[in-house]
Amino acid sequence: MIVGVVKESFPCERRVALIPAAIPNLAKAGLQVMVEAGAGWEAGYPDGAFAEKGATIAPDRAAVFAAADIIAQVLCYGSNDKTGRADLPLMRRDQILIGFLRPLGSKETIQEIASSGATSFSVELMPRSTRAQSMDALSSMATICGYKAVLIAANTLPRLFPMMTTAAGTITPGRVLVIGAGVAGLQAIATAKRLGAVISGYDLRPAAKEQVQSLGARFVELPIEAKDAQDAGGYAKAQDEAFYARQRELLGRVIAENDVVITTAVVPGKKAPVLVTKEMVQGMAPGSVIVDLAAERGGNCELTRAEETIVANGVTIVGEINLASTVPYHASQMYARNLVSFLTLLAKGGKLNLNMQDDIIRETLLTQGGEVVNARVREFWKLPALANT
Ligand SMILES: NC(=O)c1ccc[n+]([C@@H]2O[C@H](COP(=O)([O-])OP(=O)(O)OC[C@H]3O[C@@H](n4cnc5c(N)ncnc54)[C@H](O)[C@@H]3O)[C@@H](O)[C@H]2O)c1
Repeated sequence: MIVGVVKESFPCERRVALIPAAIPNLAKAGLQVMVEAGAGWEAGYPDGAFAEKGATIAPDRAAVFAAADIIAQVLCYGSNDKTGRADLPLMRRDQILIGFLRPLGSKETIQEIASSGATSFSVELMPRSTRAQSMDALSSMATICGYKAVLIAANTLPRLFPMMTTAAGTITPGRVLVIGAGVAGLQAIATAKRLGAVISGYDLRPAAKEQVQSLGARFVELPIEAKDAQDAGGYAKAQDEAFYARQRELLGRVIAENDVVITTAVVPGKKAPVLVTKEMVQGMAPGSVIVDLAAERGGNCELTRAEETIVANGVTIVGEINLASTVPYHASQMYARNLVSFLTLLAKGGKLNLNMQDDIIRETLLTQGGEVVNARVREFWKLPALANT
């Protein structure tokens, strides 16, 4: 079977789905790799490096779609809402598609993908289990985003992060607050710690407290308790508006004490909760920085504009999206590693193994035979359950 890798088409996307080092591992599983010319260039992986490891280089995108049994992408149509649709006519019935498909983003889009006849697997639907950990692309990319958010903040802040005792006096350390201590938030805490800042972390999931503290940060305790804070998958559950209002009220004071606020609070399939209001921004010292990693999902800060950096009342609010793409070498390496693990499970001995008893395969399979077949996604979009699910 041939795994095809095309050049990512989302504007400014620099990652690539597989890297040369992945090819020998796929070969062991009986999978050959075909790469569109130039697909890895921006991530630091030239065609020659792919060819050296045994990949075939195809002249263009259409040639890869025509030859491959499996298409491996980072941002497929669905998550690539700008240019992704152009791939639909290139896809063959029963061709396998793997990548970020944003299954809870738009019902129409996933139905269009289903109509192409593709058997698609959405990496966002990967179960959060120990066995699936090596395939968890959301975590890989969140790690990179958390790291990069801190670098952006440090670069923007007119102050230093570390404490310094110098002949010219003592510099007090920067104060960083991270709201949402999931994978990205914890990585942001770890990175800010390495840069010497004084860090606080907050999350509505009580389980996050120990993780925040284990990284040497203070956990912000708010006198409110979320109802059913966490679902079985470890994700936060949506709360009612009264909870969010109280949260904002209590967070206001904490936010004003910090120079940098990094927000990562999201709930799957929902608009991100607004936790930092315009008034809270006004309460921050001029020069402060907010990096809103939830920008693409509506933003945790009321003033965030996705894909833009704005200054309000002297506070810089960064709403950059797709930060993982700004570290394309390692983002691609991690993503490729996730895909190799998944492909090895999916194609045992070079043959497709669609074992629906396997929770990883069953839960990530999004479309097949012209239908959206994923039970969780069908329920989310209120589509009637299929007879065999
Ligand atoms: N294989 C595994 O077992 C595995 C893999 C990845 C993540 N996880 C766990 O899953 C959990 C979710 O991680 P994630 O990074 O994907 O989360 P996420 O990206 O869905 O959300 C980011 C964080 O925002 C928090 N949040 C949501 N609403 C909030 C609010 N109103 N106020 C404060 N915080 C709020 C969430 O609790 C979460 O920690 C974590 O506990 C993580 O450790 C487990």
